[in-house]
Amino acid sequence: MNEQTWQAVDDWFSERLIGADEALDGALAASAKAGLRAINVAPNQGKFLHLLARIQGARRILEIGTLGGYSAIWLARALPGDGVLVSLEFNPDNAAVARANIARAGLGDKVTVVTGLALDSLDAMLRDGAAPFDFVFIDADKQSNPQYLERVLKLARPGTVIVADNVVRSGRIADASDRDADVVGLREYFERVTGDARLDTTAVQTVGSKGWDGFAITIVGA
Ligand code: SAH
Ligand code: DHB
Ligand code: MG
Repeated sequence: MNEQTWQAVDDWFSERLIGADEALDGALAASAKAGLRAINVAPNQGKFLHLLARIQGARRILEIGTLGGYSAIWLARALPGDGVLVSLEFNPDNAAVARANIARAGLGDKVTVVTGLALDSLDAMLRDGAAPFDFVFIDADKQSNPQYLERVLKLARPGTVIVADNVVRSGRIADASDRDADVVGLREYFERVTGDARLDTTAVQTVGSKGWDGFAITIVGA
């Protein structure tokens, strides 16, 4: 068991379960060309998010952390004709790459990439009385996850699904001596989701082309 075999299995799955996809492959190529870090979700993880959103019947999706729009394309493809995805991105260069990738995928009418600090954008949505989201993907700076959760819960309804990426960080989540701000933020995120009686949460580890990491999945109750 090593990263090489994880990669081989991810390749094996991606070839069979996803295959060549002009919009997705093009988004990664354009992101690489623009110098973005390849920290997008893996193809099979993107499809996992897509299927979760479809299973849930999501019509309004919120993403925190757009990068080049790779996960946004997967999520927007899960939406019905009148569905919307709002994706929040701090870096204007990333946002520009993402908007172009999303337009090339034919999803420009469904997706809005909002440039700015995610906390500011979330607070603006709260002030504007935005309608609740059905599905939320949290994938930006992990140290801010507790604050993101606080806002997201005010933009949620009973039944909203919240997925947080990168909650394992190669096992660092469980290493009490690791005081990195991102890891501390992730631990606080788990404190909050387990401390709120309205929320039900689990977490699963993943290995593959993106190394060893994991997702936390939460459903908002009544
Ligand atoms: N969801 C993407 C990957 C996102 S990577 C995918 O899987 O395809 C994390 C992104 O969050 C980066 O683009 C980074 O610029 C952005 N980010 C980091 N801190 C942020 C903040 N405070 N507000 C908004 N975006 C932020
Ligand atoms: C990082 C961020 C991510 O969202 C991810 O999926 C992998 C890595 C990072 O900042 O290192
Ligand atoms: Mg991530």
